[in-house]
Amino acid sequence: MQHEYILVKKSGPLQGQVTVSGAKNAALPILASLVLTSGVSVLKNVPHLTDIESMVGLLESLGAVITKDYAAGILVVDTTNIHRWKISEEMMQKTRASIVILGPLMARFQKADVAFPGGDMIGARPIDYHLKNFKKMGAEITEQGNVICLHAQKLTAQRFVLDYPSVGATQNILMAAVLIPGTSYIVNAAIEPEVMDLIGILTKMGAQISLEYPAALKIVGVEKLQPVEYSIMTDRLEVGSLLIAAAITGGNVYLPNACADDMELFLMKLEEMGHQIIHEAAGGIRLIASKNPQAVSFKTAPYPGIATDLQPLLMIAQAVSQGKCEAIETVFENRFLHVPYLQLMGAQMQVLGSHKAVVTGVKKLQGAVVVATDIRASCALVLAGLVAEGSTMVYGVSHWRRGYEDLDEKLRSLGAHIEFVKHL
Ligand code: EPZ
Repeated sequence: MQHEYILVKKSGPLQGQVTVSGAKNAALPILASLVLTSGVSVLKNVPHLTDIESMVGLLESLGAVITKDYAAGILVVDTTNIHRWKISEEMMQKTRASIVILGPLMARFQKADVAFPGGDMIGARPIDYHLKNFKKMGAEITEQGNVICLHAQKLTAQRFVLDYPSVGATQNILMAAVLIPGTSYIVNAAIEPEVMDLIGILTKMGAQISLEYPAALKIVGVEKLQPVEYSIMTDRLEVGSLLIAAAITGGNVYLPNACADDMELFLMKLEEMGHQIIHEAAGGIRLIASKNPQAVSFKTAPYPGIATDLQPLLMIAQAVSQGKCEAIETVFENRFLHVPYLQLMGAQMQVLGSHKAVVTGVKKLQGAVVVATDIRASCALVLAGLVAEGSTMVYGVSHWRRGYEDLDEKLRSLGAHIEFVKHL
């Protein structure tokens, strides 16, 4: 039995301005990348989330010494004494992103013993693209139950061609390749803003990486990387969540540190729905909600397509708009887990197979007791609660805490009725 839930009550139009936190999905691989250096690095704008704590614990288990000032968003990471390349199954199970430690460990020790990672249940989420390319790099891979051991005599620069632009596989291969002598390429690489942020810190460390035609990363191996000071990018997924919150409540919200380039197609969809997106001269994005939003069809895809992580949120926006549309999910095969709960709240949604849902806008949603099954579903259900009659109780709070730093506080500051409730 879960003893905590998020209580959300129907709220008026959200109004005001909030600063968005640093991006979890950039901070996680960036933390892992510090294993490539020996010395003290300083990371700024790090969000305080349980997934980040898990990655910090993982680095500490390898021998890193980390000073944490989460209130200031600063982690000081000393990697001088990292001496282990084995990670416990318990550590690996805490977050899916733990898999991106493979690349840095292979670069530092030419070996890594890890377990298959944990994470959300949004799809099968295999790691075959990662392993296939470590093999190509020269690693011998053995699997014993849930444990994978990678050992290499020598890593060699190659042309790594990905079956699909996987974010994690791109990050892993990239982090291994930066210290391999010679020139490597990652063809069909993911170029998500979070990958570009990782390239940002690696470049600051001294790595030589360039983006080349056709969607390839060119990596010229260097001998050594230096510790650095680096500030994590703004979380585009939190930006998307706040803009949808403003849109569905008929609000007017300004996010001064939001970056429009990170999410152009998503912003275009909001405009097609009738919402006004203003790129303020001082920077950032303002959304002024339409009084009469229209449902629009959309499809998720690797960047620069609409992020799959924004799909559950965009579905909420369609659910309370006028008309009918299709939501096509192309990245994960089990990412409509929020739908049964939204249906319980009165949303008209039909899932057709694993990649398509049809949404027909309704005038009203009704508060209900619902359960979040993954990070983004937790946010979609909370936002649905803002426009549902009465109260909504969202269980599965741990998912929210894995992915959103103080988003409840931020929503409250804009006028939302939302609080955490504990019970026996
Ligand atoms: C990252 O996951 C993000 N996680 C996810 O965000 C995000 O949804 C996803 O990228 C897509 O943008 C982090 O950055 C920590 P992928 P990742 O490898 O790297 C298949 C959130 O809520 N695939 O790009 O695991 C895979 O099954 C999380 O913050 C293989 O088949 O995603 C999926 O269908 C959820 N074999 C597709 O590729 C592989 O070896 C994309 O996955 C690797 C992936």
